[in-house]
Amino acid sequence: MSAVALADATGPSPAERAVAYRQGVYHAIAWNFGPMAGMVKGEMPFDAKAFALKAERVAYLSALPLEGFIPDSLVGDSEAKPDIWDNMDDFKSKMQTFETEAGKLADAARTATALDALKPQFGKVGQACKDCHDNYKKD
Ligand code: HEC
Repeated sequence: MSAVALADATGPSPAERAVAYRQGVYHAIAWNFGPMAGMVKGEMPFDAKAFALKAERVAYLSALPLEGFIPDSLVGDSEAKPDIWDNMDDFKSKMQTFETEAGKLADAARTATALDALKPQFGKVGQACKDCHDNYKKD
């Protein structure tokens, strides 16, 4: 769709679409992250193939949310903190850390046959979520 057609279309504003986009990606990330967490906590049996697939998806998805944080998009039910736009370099660097750690987890999961080998790197990915949420997401 051209920019003109987008501007003319009724419905959600660009800011509202950006919020829906980034929240949708985070939901997809959480959907895949959850079962890995369940395996790490021993709440679900370890399934190396399923873990590897989910790690691969999280690694892919980790690069997607950033472009949804467009200027002036703190609207609707967004849980983003305004500090994001005041500290965009730091926010981007936290996104980059997440991407890097998620990539390493996917690499490790491709060949791992035991959960213990994946736990430390899984912890780093979880820490990357938390480091960002603690600073930039409302509770
Ligand atoms: C660099 C920052 C950053 C990283 C890394 C990050 N998040 Fe988030 N996350 C956010 C922000 C900001 C929001 C709020 C987005 C909004 O509502 O506009 C959010 C929202 C969410 C939401 C709620 C979506 C909604 O609609 O309410 C979930 C679930 C979530 N993140 C899970 C995760 C998980 C799981 C990870 C790690 C595997 C992760 N996030 C990594 C910044 C981050």
